[in-house]
Formats: sequence, C-alpha cells, structure tokens
Amino acid sequence: MPTTLPPCTGLGLPREAYVSEKVFDAELKRFFYTTWLYAGHESQVREPGQFIRFALGDADVIIIRGRDGVLRGLHNTCRHRGAQLLGDSSGTCRRAIVCSYHAWSYDFDGKLKGAPKMGSDFDPTVHRLRQAEVEVWNGVVFVHVGGGNPAPVAEQLAGVQFANTDIARSKIAKVVDFELTTNWKASWENALECYHCAVNHPELGRIFDVDADGEDGQGFPGGPEYIFIENTLRPGSVSVTPSGQIESKRPYKCDPEAGIERGFLQWHRSAFEMIASPDHVALMTYKPLSPSKSIVTQTFLVPEEAQPGAEFDPDELFDMHIVTRQQDNALCEQIYAGLRNIAYSPGPFNGSLEQENFRFLSTYRSVMGDIIAD
Ligand code: FES
Ligand SMILES: [Fe+2]
Repeated sequence: MPTTLPPCTGLGLPREAYVSEKVFDAELKRFFYTTWLYAGHESQVREPGQFIRFALGDADVIIIRGRDGVLRGLHNTCRHRGAQLLGDSSGTCRRAIVCSYHAWSYDFDGKLKGAPKMGSDFDPTVHRLRQAEVEVWNGVVFVHVGGGNPAPVAEQLAGVQFANTDIARSKIAKVVDFELTTNWKASWENALECYHCAVNHPELGRIFDVDADGEDGQGFPGGPEYIFIENTLRPGSVSVTPSGQIESKRPYKCDPEAGIERGFLQWHRSAFEMIASPDHVALMTYKPLSPSKSIVTQTFLVPEEAQPGAEFDPDELFDMHIVTRQQDNALCEQIYAGLRNIAYSPGPFNGSLEQENFRFLSTYRSVMGDIIAD
C-alpha cells in the first residue's frame, strides 16, 4: 500500500448514505452490531454486582461483574415477557438483577434464580439471560452485541502498544456527551483529517503541528482498519493540554521503551478514537441516533491514584480536547446541513491530507457497498 495516495484519489459517499433510514438501519445491523464497541472502563466494574450499560439502536446490554470475578455482557431483556431489566446507565446490583414486572430474578452471571409462582415443573435453567461478548483491552471495555465469533480486540489491534502501560490502572475523571444534528459518519470523517485544523482550531494549533498531519510519510502503521501513530505535537509540547505541558501532578508512569508514549489510535471499524498523553487519556466515540442525529462522547482517564482538585483540575486538564471538540461539533453540523442539500454530490479527497478518510470509506464500502449506490 502506498504511504501517500495520489491527489484527488477517491470520492466521498453519496447523499443517500447520510440521510436514508434504510441505510441507517443497515448500518446498525451490519456495521455496529457486528463489531467491538466501546462500553466503558474496567474501573467502573471492579466489584461483583457493579454494572455499566451499553445501548445503541435496539441493542441494550448490561455489562456486569460476576461473583466469580468474570465480566459478562447480558442482554437487557427479561426472559419472561421481555421487559428491560435495568434502566440506569451504571450502578451496583445488591443480590440479583430483578425484573420489576413480575419479579423474576437473575444472578450476576445471567442464571435465572427466582421465578415466583411458576410451579414445580418450571425449569429455570433453560431461561438464563442471553449473553453478549465482552473483552477488556488495556482496561478499556468493549462489547460485541451481535453474537458470532469475533476476532478478539487484542488480535484486531495487534500493532497497538501504548507506553502508558498504566492505562489499565486508570479511572474515569470526566465524561462529556454532545448530541449533534449530523450523521455519525460526518463526525467520524471530520475526526480523520486535520486539513480543517489550521482554519478552525487556533488553540490546538499552538501545541499541535496541524500541518504535519498526513504529510510526513507516516503512512498507515497498523492494521487495515486502524491507524496508530505518535501524536505530532509541536517541539516543546508534550501533552494535549491548554499549555501543551503536563498539567497534572500525578502523570502516568511512562516507559518510552515500551512503545509510543503519545499514542493516537483511530479504529475505523468501531468508530473509536484514543489519544494518550503523559497525564491523561482521551477516548472518543461516535454513535448514531438517527440519520440526522449522532452523539459524540469524550471520556477522560487519569491514573487511578490521581486526586481531582489536589493533583489535577478536572475543569482544566481536558480543556484542549473539549474546546477543539466544540469547534468540531460546529463543523459537523455545518457539513451535515450541506450534505443533505439536494444538490450535493461528493468531491475528490486531498490525496495526502485526507488519506485516512479514504481508508475509512474503503472499510465502510466493504460492509455496506451493495446498499450504497455510488
Ligand atoms: S417480564 Fe420480567 S418478570 Fe415478567
Ligand atoms: Fe477538528
């Protein structure tokens, strides 16, 4: 594969891909229900009974730690008449997962424990909660909602190794959701290029070499569906913070020999992004709500021991990411207003600065090609 595509290689997707309900439904089934999706961080589910929920489209999974220490995914639908079992996005179940409709109760591993008044010939063992695959990778919890036999995350991201080896020993310091009037692909495609950065991200431009992105022959290190590179900060900058400096008194214990210290991962198949700095890690997801609505979530990790207030300021440490995201949000809504225009037709990519967009669309077309009529 060439490291730099010739100019004007490839065209974007047709208008229909961004506005059609039919495409949206197919994306859920083929793209999102058939891949690993970010669900949270292991620090949220360390104790038996602790759970987080993952919901997207018509998928809804409880990810819960069992009494045996195993983390499992359980589809959030009662085996009696199908009621949703848990409504909170996270929490702790005390003794069991109890359905509030007719009080069937399940153990944390999904086994049906109690089904009141069902009679002596009722066999609870055949009514356990259906399972979804869960995998923890570097402390990051992924769920695969659609069954099947997916290749493990660790295998799919085999070339990704952060020097911040304490990512697994982190905790969530802040989560920010942005609901946008845009298609999820417009958000993801915006994240894949920095062609727009010099014009739109003046703050980021002070610490990040926006012009180097895509032009330095870094090519495509990694697998066919992700990119993993060193974040190209300007000389003197070491962290994606407002000052470009380490702003936490409790940074990660980095081992530069172990791999990339300031790693930047974008995983196309999962619309998942991870930016590691010496004092924090930013995780980004890009989830569809409808053809015209999507939700971008930023989750910020810090070392497990880092004390908010005393050792870092949660209102400032992540500000460079949040300010940049707000600028990107406006762009994502602006581009969607134009993409839905009846006169829109896709133009050519910049072969150097938008090469990652081309790669994403290759992945997307490989899954959706017969539905998207170019
Ligand atoms: S639907 Fe859950 S107990 Fe009846
Ligand atoms: Fe941007």
